Amino acid sequence: MPRHRWWQGAILYQIYVRSWLDADGDGYGDLRGIISRLDYLEWLGVDGIWLSPTMPSPDQDWGYDVSDYLSVHPELGSIDDLDSLVAEAGKRGMRVLLDLVPNHTSSAHPWFVDASSARNSAYRDYYVWADPGPGGGPPNNWIDATGHPAWEWHAESGQYYLHNFLPSQPDLNWWLPAVHHEFKEILKFWFDRGIAGFRIDVAHGLYKDALLRDNPPLAHADPLQGRFGQRPVYSANRPETHGVFRDWRALADTYSPPRLLLGETWVGDLRALASYYGDDDELDLAFNFVFVFAEFAAPALPGVVAQTLAKLPIGACPVWMASNHDVGRFATRWCNGDERKIKLALLVLGTLPGTTVLYYGDETGMTDVQVPADLQRDTLRLGGAAAGSSRDRARTPMQWDSSTSAGRKTEVGTAITEYAQVRAVPDGVWSYVAGPLVIAVNLTDRPVTIPGFPGTDILLRTSGAAGLTNQVVSLAPWEGLVMRSDGQVSEQIPAR
Ligand code: GLC
Repeated sequence: MPRHRWWQGAILYQIYVRSWLDADGDGYGDLRGIISRLDYLEWLGVDGIWLSPTMPSPDQDWGYDVSDYLSVHPELGSIDDLDSLVAEAGKRGMRVLLDLVPNHTSSAHPWFVDASSARNSAYRDYYVWADPGPGGGPPNNWIDATGHPAWEWHAESGQYYLHNFLPSQPDLNWWLPAVHHEFKEILKFWFDRGIAGFRIDVAHGLYKDALLRDNPPLAHADPLQGRFGQRPVYSANRPETHGVFRDWRALADTYSPPRLLLGETWVGDLRALASYYGDDDELDLAFNFVFVFAEFAAPALPGVVAQTLAKLPIGACPVWMASNHDVGRFATRWCNGDERKIKLALLVLGTLPGTTVLYYGDETGMTDVQVPADLQRDTLRLGGAAAGSSRDRARTPMQWDSSTSAGRKTEVGTAITEYAQVRAVPDGVWSYVAGPLVIAVNLTDRPVTIPGFPGTDILLRTSGAAGLTNQVVSLAPWEGLVMRSDGQVSEQIPAR
């Protein structure tokens, strides 16, 4: 059995720093704002806080265009503030993770400023440069995240450079050993300061095909398989990337406690997802976007959970997340703002075996907000083929006002490790045993009854109705409940 690590069964909480709490009155959230509400996060039961990018950046992509990896964005605070946050969180038993962006830098990063100064400059090879293709245009067919060619012509040096996101986010060249060295130094810098780990941006994308081959077409529109008619077979998802995570894991494991590597693994195939855990020697945790985009219904969602658990290597810890700053909020996508469904989703997220990642405001059921066009700030989705899908919908200010969240407080628990699905339930109902608990959720518009389990007590109903001990349990539409098992239940249920 692998050793127990602090994030296994933990609740992590993602804070989009600019939108959470403004301590200095400039209209933007900041690190001191977070410090001032750590008691709230402790009360909520959070074990670790993941901060969206905190490093200096021209903010073309709100911090995902880093111009200095070893510092703090002045609008969010200072490095002393970050140290204080780590210390204050630590006093409350919480750890702090940063967001690391290794796929690309800002074009304002000194490496790119040098690289674009001349073809023989010191940092030229830190980035992916290529001559024009045979027809004189871009070197290949790769498309960036806005739907435009992923190559920007650099007239001064007579070559194209690669950018899988905005032209102001040039991709790094991971074939160059010096790039590996730089990032290991960056990891050490933050780990030594007490940062508990990193959420790794575009973790599946670091290496590109050495031959820059054309991407193949996408057969069916599916955000998990590709975008703009292409499957990113050569512009991302290359096998060499696994070596990077093996190196980083070896480094992260030299710390006490081991530092956490949590990857943004945007893959549509659960086997590919599983591969990022390696042989317990790559990422510790990998975001599961198949789960995120699954239908909030049975058997669809339990099916994805079962497949995930079956595909992950033995001992690997799954991650359950349903909202973030890119994909929007589950309270809208899954629940259409329906409070009953929101409580059910939180019940599921908090009781599945593994690590739960909540996005700020998930806990009170915050929904997406339609931000008027003139207020949108998500450059990546302004204009271009991705226009109209602004990610600002899920980046609006944290709703602190208790009047808007009154009565909506929802319990989240610590996830546990054992999981088995209960088979004998009506259609549209999902019931599972998770450690000492039995969970049943009615994902339908009709009342249902399910067999009770002898010796179980009802601990919680999302409807707020009083608990009962029963041979038969009735569930209202979109109601869920948690029962405490006396240990007999799991013996009645076949293991997965
Ligand atoms: C990741 C981030 C997203 C960003 C992109 C480019 O997907 O989550 O917000 O725009 O990478 O860095």
